[in-house]
Amino acid sequence: MTLAGVTVAVLGAGRMGSAIIRGLVSAGASVVATGRRRETLERAARLGAEVTRSNSEAARRAELVIIAVKPRNYPEVAAEIAPVVKGKTVASIVAGVTLRILDDTLPGAHNYRVMPNIGALVMKSATAIALRPGGSKGANPGLVEEAFKTIGSVTWIPEELMDAWTALAGSGPGFLAEVADALILGGVAAGLPRREASAAVAQLFRAVADLIESMHPAQLRDEVATPAGTTIAGLHSMHRWAPRRMMVDAVLSAYRRCRELAGEVERSLRP
Ligand SMILES: NC(=O)c1ccc[n+]([C@@H]2O[C@H](COP(=O)([O-])OP(=O)(O)OC[C@H]3O[C@@H](n4cnc5c(N)ncnc54)[C@H](OP(=O)(O)O)[C@@H]3O)[C@@H](O)[C@H]2O)c1
Repeated sequence: MTLAGVTVAVLGAGRMGSAIIRGLVSAGASVVATGRRRETLERAARLGAEVTRSNSEAARRAELVIIAVKPRNYPEVAAEIAPVVKGKTVASIVAGVTLRILDDTLPGAHNYRVMPNIGALVMKSATAIALRPGGSKGANPGLVEEAFKTIGSVTWIPEELMDAWTALAGSGPGFLAEVADALILGGVAAGLPRREASAAVAQLFRAVADLIESMHPAQLRDEVATPAGTTIAGLHSMHRWAPRRMMVDAVLSAYRRCRELAGEVERSLRP
């Protein structure tokens, strides 16, 4: 399926909204974007979108409506567009807004719950789309999938796994950024200039990302850890600090917090 000639509304042209506009425009879609502040609208226009402050006008004109506002702004946007999206395809990336909330607040629309991540800024989002109970993808899955493929990869998962996805794929870039920063410091401690250390770490992340596509991370580690070599010495030292436990705990803490936040969003949306 091609997006050329398809009109997509992006409601809330903020950080994620802008990344999505960039992807959609590069795929040939016509984008109508909204925001409240002049800077938001000007930025979206520079990315190639038509702009308006009216969410309902943007939604009325579009075949696909993407909601990319913060959770606290979801109720006002949903109330504004509900009368004009019946029969249309709507994809929300709003954290904590479940399919049940979408179906309750946007009755008659073909609703999708989508969770991209910050990789969208460089078109490398790891995006999940929620399956409905029974594994159904919904009425118009191709359009939604194609739209989010413009900013990276797309995976369909049962809705009950969306919080786990958010903890791993949503918060993961933060965890890896911490690792990257620590490795840079290690390089600097060993005598490398900061710029060279940063460049080496960026390249290292790219290489490891490609390598673990085709081999298990444990296999990669074993390939590098030659007997009595430098890597096994570093690993031995690292294991004193239980790095695996630290990472698993980080993901689980993010997961628990995500569940709490989802509850807060749900309570805030109750009439
Ligand atoms: N950031 C991430 O990594 C990430 C990842 C996955 C999902 N998400 C979800 O994506 C959503 C957006 O996050 P973000 O980081 O992109 O936030 P953001 O940069 O604050 O963008 C939100 C945008 O919504 C606009 N907005 C607010 N109320 C509006 C309204 N009534 N009508 C039209 N536009 C309105 C704001 O425009 P003005 O500034 O002009 O008011 C702002 O540009 C959130 O729900 C978040 O949970 C974010």
